[in-house]
Amino acid sequence: MKNYYKIPKIFFISFILINLFLSNLFAAGPDGNITKMKFSFDGIFGVIDKASARRGLQVYNEICAGCHSLEHVSYRNLLDIGFSNDQVKEFASQFEVTAEPDSDGEVNMRSAIPSDKFVSPYQNDNQAKAMNNGAIPPDLSLIIKARAGGASYFYSLLKGYEDPPEDKELSNGYYNIAYPGNVIAMPQPLYGDDVEYADGTEATMEQEIIDLVSFLTWTGQPELNDRKSMGFRVFLFLVFMTSVLFLSYRKIWKKIKG
Ligand code: HEC
Repeated sequence: MKNYYKIPKIFFISFILINLFLSNLFAAGPDGNITKMKFSFDGIFGVIDKASARRGLQVYNEICAGCHSLEHVSYRNLLDIGFSNDQVKEFASQFEVTAEPDSDGEVNMRSAIPSDKFVSPYQNDNQAKAMNNGAIPPDLSLIIKARAGGASYFYSLLKGYEDPPEDKELSNGYYNIAYPGNVIAMPQPLYGDDVEYADGTEATMEQEIIDLVSFLTWTGQPELNDRKSMGFRVFLFLVFMTSVLFLSYRKIWKKIKG
């Protein structure tokens, strides 16, 4: 009798193991050449490194913001990654937005304030197209979540510029081994030493990309750190409750079991 009921269990366990193996082997990925990377926020307890995210903002602001918008983020959201109120005010005030019409109906410009959204580099999509040879640079707020391969794709894309193979004709773009199809309209944006970090960190190309990954993972999932620390607390609570229940079970049944 005993052996009978062991068979399905073994089947069940091997089924799960084989599936895990196969899903790793054939995981559907994007068709470019992607380096699988480990980042600080990977794993169940991993969180976004806020100092790195602050440096990432600097790289975005100095290098990418000329072409890419970040329309889902307000300046005051930067408080989350450790900027002070004054720093946010000062950062916002470098940008200009259109003000409400004044009493004469004139529409003037004013400096941005913390509650404004990040100012877009373009008035509209047509202007974005016209300024980039017909390609619209996508908004970066959700880009890491939006692309298959996520942060590893983003990392590989920024590192993926190479000389094109000789038989490849490039009339309207640049050769990139991570980009699907290998021809992208964006010129290589980072080479290393593109910014001088406010916190003194050395701005290698690797560092700049990792900092952008931290920053743009945060813009896409601003709740990530809270969610993971809540997960950790729930986990501790469950371990604690399980021990309490187990000990009381032993105590209650001790006399009866003898
Ligand atoms: C000179 C303008 C310009 C600059 C500067 C620039 N980009 Fe782009 N970017 C583009 C254009 C144009 C596209 C659209 C490419 C296409 O459709 O082929 C693009 C596309 C992208 C994409 C999407 C790729 C995809 O999978 O569709 C990402 C991610 C990206 N850029 C990140 C960045 C980052 C990060 C920076 C700053 C380090 C940056 N870009 C700087 C113009 C720019």
